[in-house]
Amino acid sequence: MRVLVLGSGGREHALCWAIGRSPLVSQVVCAPGNDGMRGDARLAPVDLTDLPSVVKLALEESADLVVVGPEDPLAAGVADVLREAGIVVFGPGREAAQLESSKLFAKQFMERHGIPTAGHRVFEDADAAEAWVGERGGDCVVKADGLAAGKGVFVCTDVDAARAAVDEIMRDRRFGASGARVVIEERLVGEEISYYAICDGERWVPLGSAQDFKRALDGDRGENTGGMGAYSPVPFVDAALERRIHEQILDPVFSGMRAEGRPYRGVLFAGLILVDGDPVVIEFNCRFGDPETQALLFRLESDLVPVLEAAAEGRLPDDLEFRYGDPSVAVVIASEGYPRSYPKGVPIEGLEAVEGPDLKCFHAASRLEGGALVTNGGRVLCATARGASLEAARDRAYAAAERIAWPGAQYRRDIALRALRSDETPA
Ligand code: AMP
Ligand code: GLY
Repeated sequence: MRVLVLGSGGREHALCWAIGRSPLVSQVVCAPGNDGMRGDARLAPVDLTDLPSVVKLALEESADLVVVGPEDPLAAGVADVLREAGIVVFGPGREAAQLESSKLFAKQFMERHGIPTAGHRVFEDADAAEAWVGERGGDCVVKADGLAAGKGVFVCTDVDAARAAVDEIMRDRRFGASGARVVIEERLVGEEISYYAICDGERWVPLGSAQDFKRALDGDRGENTGGMGAYSPVPFVDAALERRIHEQILDPVFSGMRAEGRPYRGVLFAGLILVDGDPVVIEFNCRFGDPETQALLFRLESDLVPVLEAAAEGRLPDDLEFRYGDPSVAVVIASEGYPRSYPKGVPIEGLEAVEGPDLKCFHAASRLEGGALVTNGGRVLCATARGASLEAARDRAYAAAERIAWPGAQYRRDIALRALRSDETPA
């Protein structure tokens, strides 16, 4: 099989790596990809916002399967145009992708189907939004309605911060048109988990759990980012909690989408928060998470490719169960200044020293310059390791991160740390 992966980040590198391990696959192409992935995929240039050129590329490459990584092309309908061209594609169509591309759609959908989520209000007017947070005392979460690469969410505990968030989203338009509306939510407190499932439009299978670290700095301080690290599995997600996630969240999502005439075909990643032990939805994402995918796929032993293909073709088997190996930890190494402004073109050294059977450095944004790899974005690398225990995986990932971080690089030191201290994690 020839598989085309769309996207260019660490998630896509992990997808290419996992897909390339399948005995069914003869060729993996990543478009546009980044130079650091070259060991695991051939790169093909493409502009993912130009949908006809994506279709043309898939036809030229004779792709037997296209796997879509990022949310923007899904929200723009890339899966629809590929399907119309007769290409097998793993990823939801535009209508179904609204679960992520419009927080308002997701909120109203959850209300219609009785799926637990934080209470919310929507505003199209900045003055009205500011007045409301003033009345409420500022304890809230302010979100740009549309896509914002994980950065359009402000968790606030006082009025000044909440007003500043409204201002930044609606008046300064830091996230462009995504800031035409804000959704303001009740602030929930609890442990967060990412839970993954794959649906073929009708049947669905659980893929597993991971925990992501969204804030830029240790101790969950600093700004929200796309994600600074992850580990998998999450030790406190036991069978009873999984059953509740399945029954209270995933069953109603997939059956609701189908009943509303937008069947969900692809991976759904539910961002959940455990409030007094109860799973509550923070957000849905219509794609694999980054960097959760690096952690999740690095420990997956089953062949992912037949599952992606079966889901894309609407024929997932009923009895599918994924096999997993040892726990894994993924540490993102980012440029100085991320998630705001950051330099590019900084040389990355020491990469050769960190490859091994239980260690992989996935590339999110690196570029070849004069034969050597340099940084080319905010999140640059993701040192990902497996180990007999979470602690061993963590030690291995951090030993790698220390060796390859360049001057000014930033990475969190506390990825998966709390999970090792079981007395601090909820039962
Ligand atoms: P989102 O992009 O909606 O996942 O939000 C990014 C991050 O903001 C989440 O991972 C949470 O850490 C935080 N967050 C979002 N919504 C809420 C909420 N209602 N209560 C508390 N934290 C939230
Ligand atoms: N790591 C969170 C996300 O991919 O949205």
